[in-house]
Amino acid sequence: MTYTEINMCLESLVSGVPHRTANLANAAALLYQMLPDVSWAGFYLTSPTADGQMLVLGPFQGKTACIEIPWGRGVCGTAAQTRRTQLVPDVHAFPGHIACDAASRSEIVVPLFDANGAVAGVLDLDSASPARFTEEDAEGLEAFARILEKEVFGRA
Ligand code: SME
Repeated sequence: MTYTEINMCLESLVSGVPHRTANLANAAALLYQMLPDVSWAGFYLTSPTADGQMLVLGPFQGKTACIEIPWGRGVCGTAAQTRRTQLVPDVHAFPGHIACDAASRSEIVVPLFDANGAVAGVLDLDSASPARFTEEDAEGLEAFARILEKEVFGRA
């Protein structure tokens, strides 16, 4: 399936559905089912803490994963802090990468923004193949993220 098709599917799955967890669960399942060679697909969501913010595991497909990721740590925390997509061809070369699954070799993380422009969470995909994700994936997943921001996080 192309990203154009995946993103059309996502629109029809989530539009008008007022249930955040259900929408994110279906979004994770859609990516996991439709993209080849993906070992994990899901979300970490921003959660306030006494001394700042934290990413907490959200709906996902794949093996069990770490529950809390500090802001600025790992690939996910870096995407949240820098507000930029992180395309990581070799996770072993990424300083501070958090290995939830020892078999993971490459990763892409896209930040998600809420109505105020704050980082609501991140979309994370892993693969057991090195350099699985390309610029084409980054573009397709950023378009996927824009749909979720509008339909799930209330961004105009
Ligand atoms: N590898 C991620 C942690 C999350 S798992 O991949 C599901 C990171 O470094 O942030």
